[in-house]
Amino acid sequence: MTLRDEAEQLSPYIREMRRHFHRFGELSFHEEETTRRIAEELAPLGYTIETFPDYYGLIATLAGDPAGRTVLLRADIDALPLREETGADFASERPGVMHACGHDCHTAMLLGAAKLLAARRRALPGTVKLLFQSAEESGHGMQYYLDHDCFAGVDAAFGIHMSADIPKGTIAVTRGPLMASCTDFRCIVRGVSAHGSTPHLGQDAIVAASSILLNLQTLVSRRNNPLHPLVMTIGTVRGGKQFNIICGEVTMEGTIRSFDRDMARRAPELFREIAENTAKALGCTAELDVISFEPVTSNDHDALTDAAREAAVSLFGEGILAEEPRSMASEDFSLLMEKIPAVFAKVGARDEASGMTWPLHSDHFCPDDSVLWHGAALHAQFALDVLAGKGGL
Ligand code: NI
Repeated sequence: MTLRDEAEQLSPYIREMRRHFHRFGELSFHEEETTRRIAEELAPLGYTIETFPDYYGLIATLAGDPAGRTVLLRADIDALPLREETGADFASERPGVMHACGHDCHTAMLLGAAKLLAARRRALPGTVKLLFQSAEESGHGMQYYLDHDCFAGVDAAFGIHMSADIPKGTIAVTRGPLMASCTDFRCIVRGVSAHGSTPHLGQDAIVAASSILLNLQTLVSRRNNPLHPLVMTIGTVRGGKQFNIICGEVTMEGTIRSFDRDMARRAPELFREIAENTAKALGCTAELDVISFEPVTSNDHDALTDAAREAAVSLFGEGILAEEPRSMASEDFSLLMEKIPAVFAKVGARDEASGMTWPLHSDHFCPDDSVLWHGAALHAQFALDVLAGKGGL
């Protein structure tokens, strides 16, 4: 039986897993039961399982020829703080927690791939590692595994995300940049409080923060090359105690998105310059902290990207490939892509006929899981092809 046929036969298992994880989603850094269930599924398959005393997620290793390459396949496993409105009969049983980014699907696809690969263990020309990753939605869940040197000896990595931008039944392995860099920041503006009737006796942090907020947009309109998209968003502004008190402190949080690696690197410094000098001109101070940084997610390794495209075509024919439009969203797989040759693919979830046109992170996002075996097959085929020498490493 071909790998494709085996994957298709696994479809009921993959759907069952998806629905289980969907019903019992867990938030970033809290994936305790999810991790346990994944380990239970993998245990009978012959994987060596590495868990962590102070972190969720796991790494499962299937060792074949020790002289061969090592390929890592990754799925993220966390859910989002949303109240589900899909009406699905496998809807979340945890109020306010929902798999609205498809990580339930990612987990299920990789468990399917685990079975496909385990069945080929005796002839495996190298080693496969499966990373079930905690806390992608935090923006830096990947960092723990990097800090703990979990990827030593890994020659290539591969990840899949569901996409609401390409049709159900297609796969995208787009060359070049896919998703933007993401710099999340906090800016604290400090002034001096006073009675609201005597502004001259204080230093108003609300006025300074408002000016910073508006001046910040000049980074987009005047400092950034207009040929390169840049987003500067302040999402929260918090300050003030009462209507008749000059505010002494304001905290703003926001995010910077770009595909331009140079701008992604420089943006916090440019922002800091504007914030500090604007605050100073208004008698206040400003302090900028970068909370997390994800680089651009980009399929820059051409031969490896081609290997993934060829794997998809060899399984499903040329018609399977779609081109994914670039997105200003971000993905922490990019932290791994900076270290190891890697490819990030998308499995289509958009379905006009059924009305599944909701975007990721919507409380209505609910992909049809009848196509998830495609992703399982792609994971396994990519790993086998790269272990067999493809990918130009
Ligand atoms: Ni996601």
